Amino acid sequence: MQKKWWKESVVYQIYPRSFKDSNGDGIGDIQGIISKIDYLQKLGVDVIWLSPVYQSPNDDNGYDISDYYNIMEEFGTMGDFDALLGELHNRGMRLVMDLVVNHTSDEHKWFIESRRSKDNPYRDYYIWRPGNNGARPNNWESVFSGSVWEFDEQTGEYYLHLYSKKQPDLNWENPQVRNDIFNMMHFWLEKGIDGFRMDTITTISKVTSFPDAPIVKENQYQPATQFYLNGPRLEQFLGEMKEKVFSQYDIMTVGETPGATPEEAIRYTNEENGFMDMLFQWEHIEADPGTGGKWAGDSWNLLDFKRVMTKWQKQLEGKGWNSLYLSNHDQPRQVSRFGNDTEYHAESAKMLATCLHMLQGTPFVYQGEEIGMTNVAYESINEYRDIETLNMYKESIAAGKDPNELLVMIHKKSRDNARTPMQWDESAHGGFTSGIPWIQVNPNYKEINVKKQIDDPNSVFNYYRNLIQLRTKYSIIVYGSYELILDDHEQIYAYTRKQEDKTLLVIANFAASIQEFRWDKVNHFSVKELLISNYEVEEKLAPAITLKPYEARVYLLHEETSRL
Ligand code: NOJ
Repeated sequence: MQKKWWKESVVYQIYPRSFKDSNGDGIGDIQGIISKIDYLQKLGVDVIWLSPVYQSPNDDNGYDISDYYNIMEEFGTMGDFDALLGELHNRGMRLVMDLVVNHTSDEHKWFIESRRSKDNPYRDYYIWRPGNNGARPNNWESVFSGSVWEFDEQTGEYYLHLYSKKQPDLNWENPQVRNDIFNMMHFWLEKGIDGFRMDTITTISKVTSFPDAPIVKENQYQPATQFYLNGPRLEQFLGEMKEKVFSQYDIMTVGETPGATPEEAIRYTNEENGFMDMLFQWEHIEADPGTGGKWAGDSWNLLDFKRVMTKWQKQLEGKGWNSLYLSNHDQPRQVSRFGNDTEYHAESAKMLATCLHMLQGTPFVYQGEEIGMTNVAYESINEYRDIETLNMYKESIAAGKDPNELLVMIHKKSRDNARTPMQWDESAHGGFTSGIPWIQVNPNYKEINVKKQIDDPNSVFNYYRNLIQLRTKYSIIVYGSYELILDDHEQIYAYTRKQEDKTLLVIANFAASIQEFRWDKVNHFSVKELLISNYEVEEKLAPAITLKPYEARVYLLHEETSRL
């Protein structure tokens, strides 16, 4: 396995709108980020992934780009961006940008041209189809509810949008589109950025006959991912991107790839002829069972979780590279979803971090996770801002659903759970802004905030710090091979990592109850060095460990003969 800087790094994701506002307009901005670089450096992360900061009308908070070459005015200027990049580089940190090229905003100049007339030179930059006997070209459902097709009166045709109607999909079949995108990527790479997180990259190639999807739902539109996920020309497009762009720089690339299988991941990320360094697999965060899609499922179990994580760990080992994450700006807060955000808040936040960071792959920390920020439960739909949430609510109300039941689902799954302002201190709005925040702060900001945690050696923040430092000291954490133990234990996730004569043992109790872990699982080792734990550990070499609620421990084991 080759050694690479991005395998040894820890990435911190910033959602700029909610991170830190420097000018009191209620919206986070680049100067706000600059003012917190000391904080990020103290945490120990070395790569920053910025969610989109390009010019955008913000239908989907920046994932609808109207100008790839300019910074969103609310976030600052290109001068601010250059200052951020320079400041990060001065400190030996790196910056990865979001690359959103499945679609643009409908306010992008290409689309403004494209919709003007059927013979406009930009017409073919997007996907236009005539109606089907007065109806939409097919029955595909948009990720954000409703149809993927929007009728445009000017030319009497429909355009395709997998996401909102203000996010028309680019036509990757058109070589000019590809060239324009590759040029734009060079523009940012030549500025010196250190890589891209590639938004919904596996949807850029569609089945261009646009057939109807089989009917699986009673309502009008049907899930159609089989016609646009990992589509027929995806690998060709990615190959071209690699050849014309990526191969010319020492960068890190991570693809957002919903529904990817380990086999696809190996094809996309293998070091010989893959297209990207790593990808975000979705299986572990889609482990909520049920057929009702994202909103319906709200339970998960550790056995499934371990099975999925182990599958990815084992199958990619030596063949590809994993990204490790439990949260991002599209997911509920991890401590609320997989841990316990009440009685064992700090314990479970630390346990989840331990379990994730000791796996093989590059760990991603989503802003606020390092202080254990939790889900929010606004009482009224009017407090919500996320287009996916609002569209689902509107559609469900129109279909006669109970608003209170919808709110319960939204409390669990809305993307706004992750988008409440960063909680810096106990002052108004958590110290995020001196103005009125674009979305309300989580009311628990007085208990959970950076100021309270930064100097407390037992805080979640300092635990993350220690965890991240361990990665820089022990190469076994980065490169060791993985083995699951206690396969069918329903409360404990335990695994080993092995490198030469060393073994790392990770034990994580996912339950609010006491559990017992017996050393005989790893009994041929006799030297046990505790690297980190989220409780005071008293007993040394007892035959069994009594794990407290959400307790996690990491031991370095040496075989007797290789005692250090
Ligand atoms: C995935 C992004 O993470 C999400 O926030 C966005 O809404 C969609 N892609 C569309 O760009």
